[in-house]
Amino acid sequence: MSAVSARRKKPSAAEAQAAISLPLGRILVGNCREVLRTLPAESVDVIFADPPYNLQLQRDLFRPNMTRVDAVDEAWDQFSSFAEYDQFSREWLVECRRVLKDRGTLWVIGTYHNIHRVGAILQDLEYWILNEVIWVKSNPMPNFRGVRFTNAHETLLWAARSRHDAHTFHHHALKALNDGQQMRSDWVLPVCSGKERIRVDGAKAHPTQKPEALLYRVLTASSRPGDVVLDPFFGTGTTGVVAKRLGRRWLGIERESGYAALAEARLASTAEGSGDVLEPADDRRRQPRLPFGRLLEEGLLQPGDRLYFDRDRARSAVVLADGLLKAGGALGSIHEVGRHFAGGNPCNGWEHWYYEVEGKGLNVINELRKLLREGEEAIGGNGELDAGHRPA
Ligand SMILES: C[S@@+](CC[C@H](N)C(=O)[O-])C[C@H]1O[C@@H](n2cnc3c(N)ncnc32)[C@H](O)[C@@H]1O
Repeated sequence: MSAVSARRKKPSAAEAQAAISLPLGRILVGNCREVLRTLPAESVDVIFADPPYNLQLQRDLFRPNMTRVDAVDEAWDQFSSFAEYDQFSREWLVECRRVLKDRGTLWVIGTYHNIHRVGAILQDLEYWILNEVIWVKSNPMPNFRGVRFTNAHETLLWAARSRHDAHTFHHHALKALNDGQQMRSDWVLPVCSGKERIRVDGAKAHPTQKPEALLYRVLTASSRPGDVVLDPFFGTGTTGVVAKRLGRRWLGIERESGYAALAEARLASTAEGSGDVLEPADDRRRQPRLPFGRLLEEGLLQPGDRLYFDRDRARSAVVLADGLLKAGGALGSIHEVGRHFAGGNPCNGWEHWYYEVEGKGLNVINELRKLLREGEEAIGGNGELDAGHRPA
């Protein structure tokens, strides 16, 4: 179990039951209005929905060289009136609200054709809009007929279940993703193209495949590793693919079996992310400080044990009873003596010092800190660990 999942609120009996009955890692083929009704209440952490746009295209679009533009002209995007579209939107949004956990959030992406209608319905249903994010397309399709502005953006609405519900937002992770600058609500990203774009016999397999980069940002911001992510308009499965890469659990609904099959194949060839590397910076910051001396107090290390810098047996230090390290003439904390070996550069000792596990080689001391933290979480704070945790 990662430190992150250990730190999460213990699931209630209802949540645990819901997680069991959710068909995770599957694409359910059908109309999401009906399929959503079969899912347990309060079982999902994040919903990403890319619903029909209701583009109301009247006729084919052609480029200046008379090649036809791949517009969205499929049956799933046809509605006879705004009223029909609104009714459809209301039905799936009601169900999404039911399946969301109380801290859960919903993202809906759309264009001017539908997003204002969706926004009004969200508010009517008492969702609480947290942000409107503009995805600025760095490489939009030109307006071939030259009669309007180039349509160069899509809009994402991000909403909590109600204004009273808390929500997950990884401010620090997003800041880190943006080179230390606070992430703004205008995201400049290219449309899905190149190797990422799924093609069948050279033609685009789906007219509205979203870029993975967009989902990467969405899921990094609003979900944790292990969270359940649902996409009721799965298409080629972009949400599932990014959720899987980021170690989230996922579930998709798609009415067209052909698209579901494409998504299935795409997910089968996607590697599942795991481990602490997926932990958001915000969670790391929330971890209580844990001094190195605690490893000695808990008997995870003993005075006199030898630690090795960067696995190098030629660069070692002895652990003293008060938690300092001694290496030749150098005496100080794991960070200070680490700095000595790192040529004077700043050094996070937790990540550079290794201890000997009998018969198994060297292991980084950060692993001992994780064990201690998990032990403290598991037993409510007194940090007592069983002998099975101690290094040999
Ligand atoms: C805008 S596309 C989503 C594309 C997807 N985000 C991707 O990256 O591939 C909408 C998808 O929803 C599906 N769809 C439309 N109406 C649906 C419904 N009522 N229930 C389930 N799926 C539906 C369509 O077949 C289409 O694949």
